[in-house]
Amino acid sequence: MLAIRLLAEPDRLDVLALPVRPAGAQSPAEPVPVGTALPDGVADELSALVPAARLTGAPGETWTQVRPGRVPVRLLPLGVGTGDEGAWRAAGAALVRAARDESHVTLALPAGAPAEAVRGLVEGLLLASYRFRLGADEAAPALAVVDLLVADPAAYADAVEVARTTAEMTRLARDLVNMPSSVKNPRWFAEQLAEASAGVPDLHLRVREPDELAAEGFGGILAVGSGSASGPRLVELDWRPADARTHVVLVGKGITFDTGGISIKPVPAMKLMRKDMAGAAAVVAATLGAAALRLPVRVTTLAPLAENMVSGGSYRPGDVIRHYGGVTSESTNSDAEGRLVLADAIAYAVRELRPDVLVDLATLTGANAVALGKRTGALYSENDRLAADLLAAAEAAGEAAWRLPLPADYVDYLRSDIADLYSAPVQGAGSVVAALYLREFTGELRDRWVHVDMSAPSWSDGAEAELTKGATGWGVRSLLRWLATLD
Ligand code: BES
Ligand code: MN
Ligand code: ZN
Repeated sequence: MLAIRLLAEPDRLDVLALPVRPAGAQSPAEPVPVGTALPDGVADELSALVPAARLTGAPGETWTQVRPGRVPVRLLPLGVGTGDEGAWRAAGAALVRAARDESHVTLALPAGAPAEAVRGLVEGLLLASYRFRLGADEAAPALAVVDLLVADPAAYADAVEVARTTAEMTRLARDLVNMPSSVKNPRWFAEQLAEASAGVPDLHLRVREPDELAAEGFGGILAVGSGSASGPRLVELDWRPADARTHVVLVGKGITFDTGGISIKPVPAMKLMRKDMAGAAAVVAATLGAAALRLPVRVTTLAPLAENMVSGGSYRPGDVIRHYGGVTSESTNSDAEGRLVLADAIAYAVRELRPDVLVDLATLTGANAVALGKRTGALYSENDRLAADLLAAAEAAGEAAWRLPLPADYVDYLRSDIADLYSAPVQGAGSVVAALYLREFTGELRDRWVHVDMSAPSWSDGAEAELTKGATGWGVRSLLRWLATLD
């Protein structure tokens, strides 16, 4: 990972980045006054350069001015827009891309920059420089160190630490989601967590294997995993600090590959189904982040892990599944597997863990993208306050989410002739119906439950701002923000 240092004096000055912002209508942009001394002549040169290069100061705008034989040898004006956290996140992302061939960059920060600006900047730097490669990486960027020049480094140490942990955990989630499914079977995923949680005080991991799942009645996880040579698991990761007053349960869908099962997916729809554990990746990474930051809230995270495969052992359309706690589902389509594993985990949380709040994240339906496009998660809750808090956290974190309703007019369709519920009763309204199905398992927690369908934003088709092509780690930043507001 890129090294980021807070310095009061420059260590090396080969490439110097300086903030530029939009100005009034007459002059389109202006340099932002920085909090530390600049080399002789640089301030005047930048003032002349900004209009000459027709810079606008828009967040993420960059320009490279070469100065042969002088120090610094390159000046890099960096657009920082309004200077808020989101604008700095975009600026940080743009900076690592513009300077990918430099080994070292120094960025002078504005005098009196708020800590949130530095948080956004550091997240942008660390997230946009993420790479996932198996094998040699000949095209790796040279950039290894970014120094941030500020008058008072100690004032920003906490902001940098929180941003670094948030980015590190987002990167971990991306790694898990990007990993091919030939490697990341349920056992492998659980082993990664054992490694990541080992030795962390107050963090406990329990992994249930298939025989334990059978003994305790986790019929949904077992049915979905039944077609795979790699058996299912249920991960239970418990961050339990002594001073916690609130108990949150996070649940994440962990289908390590989704073929659709007997109701098999067509080729284009199956291509990226290694990402179908992005909900599990996000919730476990957020929990590891809560532990790393020692947030004073108890977080128990459940990740039901299974591979939805096609074989002689696979579960069939029409099968009736008995979930944890006894509710039964008639599986109408083996490709609606996510809700079956989530149902077990939610029922277990409601009956055995009895938390204050329950939040689940899942790559649950293709309909998420149909309704809201490729960047926005669909959030469901009966609790206005909880919904508003999570949406606010997502907005601050730079992850888009939009609340959708839980309409009464679809509830009757959920009733099966031979079981309590149909897993996927109607065509259309896919994301909404899946949410209504999950709600059936929330029991006493019905009005303290939030479901997020994040199929769409879990993956990015290209590099854009802090996102890189592939897994986005969507959810980690929002969850960590939200958890940090609880006490
Ligand atoms: N994992 C998929 C949902 C998905 C689709 C995630 C596209 C990411 C991108 C899920 O298991 C699924 O197959 N859902 C079905 C539900 C249907 C059978 C009721 C869907 O969305 O078509
Ligand atoms: Mn599916
Ligand atoms: Zn799925």
